[in-house]
This record gives sequence, C-alpha cells and structure tokens, in this order.
Amino acid sequence: MYFKQDMLDMGQVAEVMRPSLKPPLKWAGGKRWLAPRIEDIFLSTGCGRLVEPFAGGMSVTLHIRPKDALLNDINPHLYNFYIWLRRGLSFSLEYGNDEENYYKAREAFNNNILDGNIDSKEMAMLFYYLNRTGFNGLCRFNSRGLFNVPFGKYKNINYKEDFREYSEALSKFEITNLDFEEVGYRDGDFIYYDPPYDTPFTSYSKEDFKWDDQVRLVEHIKRSELPALVSNQATPRIIELYQDNGFHIELIDAPRRISCTGDRSSVKEILAMKGVHGKR
Ligand SMILES: C[S@@+](CC[C@H](N)C(=O)[O-])C[C@H]1O[C@@H](n2cnc3c(N)ncnc32)[C@H](O)[C@@H]1O
Repeated sequence: MYFKQDMLDMGQVAEVMRPSLKPPLKWAGGKRWLAPRIEDIFLSTGCGRLVEPFAGGMSVTLHIRPKDALLNDINPHLYNFYIWLRRGLSFSLEYGNDEENYYKAREAFNNNILDGNIDSKEMAMLFYYLNRTGFNGLCRFNSRGLFNVPFGKYKNINYKEDFREYSEALSKFEITNLDFEEVGYRDGDFIYYDPPYDTPFTSYSKEDFKWDDQVRLVEHIKRSELPALVSNQATPRIIELYQDNGFHIELIDAPRRISCTGDRSSVKEILAMKGVHGKR
C-alpha cells in the first residue's frame, strides 16, 4: 500500500497501490500519458472510489491502482477480456504473426460472435491476439457487429501469454458492460470520463459515439453531484460545450500525433472539471 505524501500532508488519506501496471492491450485514445495528472486530481478530492465509465484500455486505473474502482465499457469483447483477466488469465497462443493466421483467427472470432458465444476464454484469447496483431491495435466492427480490422504487418510482436499479475490488481474492482448513463455511482465516487474523441473516427463498437452522445454526456454529468473530470480532444465545439455548461476548463498539449498527411503539429486536449477543488 502506498500513501501519496502530499495528500497526507493535506490531511487526506488516499490509498493507492504500487507498482503501476502497463495496460495489457493497445487502445486508441489511451490516456497513459495523462494518468499522473488524473491521479493528482483524484487524490486531491479525497474520494475513495475511482469510476471510469469509458474504461477502454484501462491505462488510467492501472496506473493509479486505487483501492476501489468501477470500470465500465460498452464494448462486450473488451468486457469479456477484463472478466477473464480478473479471473487470472493465461493461455498458449494458437496463432502467430502472419497474415494467414491473422485472418483465420479473425474468422474464428467472428464465427463465435455469430454463434452468440462471446464470453469464453477462447474469445478473450482471440481478442488479445487480434488486438496485438491487427492494424494499429484498432477495434472496429461493421454494422453486423463483426470485427473488420485488417492485418497489422508488424515485423516483431512480443505476445504475452501469462496475465496473472493483473488478477490481484483487478480482484476488488467492479467491471460492467453498460452505456455510460447506466453506470451505478454512489457517494464518495470520483468519476473520470474519457469518451471517444469528437472526431470523425469514433468506431470503437457497433454503435458510434456521435455529437448527440457528447451532448448527452454533458447533460448526464450536470445531473450528478459527484466530482467529475472529463477529457476530450479540444475541438472548438467541445470547448464551447463545456464552457457553456459551466465546467472549469484547462487546455493541455497532447502528445504529438502523426497524421496521414505527415502533419506533426500538436493537438490540444481539454480537461473539463466539475466539483473538483471547488471548481464550478
Ligand atoms: C477514448 S476510449 C477510452 C480510453 C481509456 N481512457 C484508456 O486510457 O485506454 C473511449 C472508450 O469509450 C467506450 N464507449 C463508447 N461509447 C460508449 C458508451 N455509450 N458508454 C460506455 N462506453 C462507451 C469505447 O468502447 C472506448 O473504449
């Protein structure tokens, strides 16, 4: 157990575990780079439980390792992978890093979806394999809910087969597979929302996250009394949305991303807060 010293100095006891763990999957929009900042904000609230309604690759919770957490994501395959991770996952991979293997694994994964068999250990293994081997670690589905990411063409991939180190870290955490509005909060929660970015690419799951959902999220947060932090790409309409709804806003530099046009200019990330240190 680790007590963050500056929080103790402020008279608050916020307990987090160490060491931080590396996320087991690659995940678009992963916030590992932002996790230390989120940790400071979480600890400053003195809240006992960290809630992530958009947990994705889980990089934030695995960095902070709070004593108590609720992790939610709408993606059922991600959810299944985490449920097996919590049970203590290990396997020996049947597939290697070549194109033929990849498409065989993708077909097996999609056949299981069509058969309604999505909660097996085999599906957790296939999900991990497709995530490491597919193009850019993307997780994209067609309108029938079938995984359609092409082969990634990586030279070398270090596959992991033993994930048992995650089991203890996740053992006390609640994991759910719901739309963010259905997540059950309670007093003493701090909520970190990391919705899909307000960009044209939002296909994490069968249902896209559209502008209406960005607005639905803000309305949802406004109805709650709990301290909340939201991150998103700082597009003009997102900045306006959070400003107009009375959130405290910070803009920070996100790590440089290389676009398909080779443009390396930095992108701004917005942190929008409510009820944190008396912020709005
Ligand atoms: C930007 S990612 C989160 C990344 C995460 N913070 C990390 O560090 O890896 C957004 C996540 O929201 C999930 N999502 C999309 N729509 C959702 C909804 N309506 N309710 C809950 N989760 C949703 C996606 O499946 C995706 O994993």
